[in-house]
Amino acid sequence: MTKPITIALPKGRLYEKTSAVLHSCGYDLELGERQLVAQERDNRLQAILVKNSDLPTYVHHGIAGLGICGTDVVFESGYEFFELLTLPFGKTQICLAGRTDQDYDHKTATSLTVASKFTRFTREFFHQRGISVSVIRLNGSVELAPVLGLAPYIVDLVETGSTLRAHNLEVKEVLGETEVKLIANRSFYKYHHKRIERFVAELESVL
Ligand code: PRP
Repeated sequence: MTKPITIALPKGRLYEKTSAVLHSCGYDLELGERQLVAQERDNRLQAILVKNSDLPTYVHHGIAGLGICGTDVVFESGYEFFELLTLPFGKTQICLAGRTDQDYDHKTATSLTVASKFTRFTREFFHQRGISVSVIRLNGSVELAPVLGLAPYIVDLVETGSTLRAHNLEVKEVLGETEVKLIANRSFYKYHHKRIERFVAELESVL
């Protein structure tokens, strides 16, 4: 019997939309509340549910051949994947934000202190601009940093802007955009490209 393809799915806000797409393709993969691995009835697909930031690690090491992941998280991982498909949801902006009463002018700024989950992105972005940046790594609730005085600025994803508004913060500058991609482990793709291409076509047909 052919082994199922293993796909890593992200926990959190992308999970529901991702599983809805798989469901539309006929993959019945509902994961229970505490369940992290699900096998589909016809044994074509197996899903593992992992923390967003760990997802590239599972795909890089071949534990999952495929994964659905934001380009921001892929970039932070430093790993290289094949990107097979862009999903039509989860597009967000990656922004520099700070307190509403704090002035920021990107033309005159020469050094910044920034709290962020996106340390690699933040360093590269500002270094390319010739701005020296000190990055304080946080793993979540980054908006607290300017409120509590840990750092005057944050680099974070902004979708509706409501998290920023709730903390009296505002976007100072949009630095980039992130998208959600279907990624593949490169060796896995080379050995299984026919099955993977069929799977991609199935996804495309419902998007
Ligand atoms: C993300 C991001 C912001 C928030 C932005 O956090 O880090 O905190 O969403 O969304 P909004 O503009 O619609 O308010 P997430 O919910 O992924 O959790 P986190 O705080 O653990 O990063």
